[in-house]
Amino acid sequence: MENIAMQIRPSELTTENSPMEILRAGVEMAGGPVALACSFSVEDVVIIDMLHQTASPATVFALDTGRLNEETYEVAEAVSERYGIGIDWYFPRREDVENMVRGKGPYSFRETLESRHECCRIRKMEPLQRALQGLSGWITGLRREQSVTRSDLSPIETDHGNGGILKINPLIGWSEKEVWEYAEQHRIPTNRLHRQGYPSIGCAPCTRAVAPGEHPRAGRWWWENPEHKECGLHRR
Ligand code: ADX
Ligand code: SF4
Repeated sequence: MENIAMQIRPSELTTENSPMEILRAGVEMAGGPVALACSFSVEDVVIIDMLHQTASPATVFALDTGRLNEETYEVAEAVSERYGIGIDWYFPRREDVENMVRGKGPYSFRETLESRHECCRIRKMEPLQRALQGLSGWITGLRREQSVTRSDLSPIETDHGNGGILKINPLIGWSEKEVWEYAEQHRIPTNRLHRQGYPSIGCAPCTRAVAPGEHPRAGRWWWENPEHKECGLHRR
């Protein structure tokens, strides 16, 4: 296990590899600073738990869009305390937010797909660019099962859209059930909203609870078609 990166090339990793194997191999392969992009979803906290268990040098950053739920900050605090880690928070550029909201109001993202992309670009993508600077790799909580836009992800990819650094997706092959089994077994802090019908949590005004049996991402940008339900963080 210790030298797994020496034994496995990115192309040889499959969804059959365990999250821990993908994580260790990815961090080693990156060969430089690596950070987890953390939205404090159950997936991301599972990864923090795994990083903690392996004493990984990876750091944790979060994008504060200015529109997150209160419950997300609460779990962020609980995670910091439980694992004794600091979170590198990134905020959008003040002038960009002011211009957008003064010009179009606080709910422009509901008007057109273009306005929704503008808001995600200002509040998420630009801060992500700064968060990724100087990194050799980033870790995400993406899973194939989450959406049609994620079904062909690889465990470790070269992220051409972000300067060719590694993108490490350790939970790629896990089901929602497997994630929750791990979360319960390890008693990790989780966002209270998950238990109130929110399988997937993003910004407060763009996320709502889903009904039993509905697709887990049905509550994200619920007014849009499934193939549009990406904010640009994971454009490929
Ligand atoms: S999104 O693109 O639709 O918003 P989603 O909420 O499914 O993404 O989260 C997928 C992964 O993107 C998370 O596991 C996390 O790695 C990253 N991510 C999403 N939102 C944030 C955020 N606000 N801060 C940091 N990372 C995030
Ligand atoms: Fe804006 Fe909604 Fe995107 Fe958050 S998810 S950045 S509020 S459009």
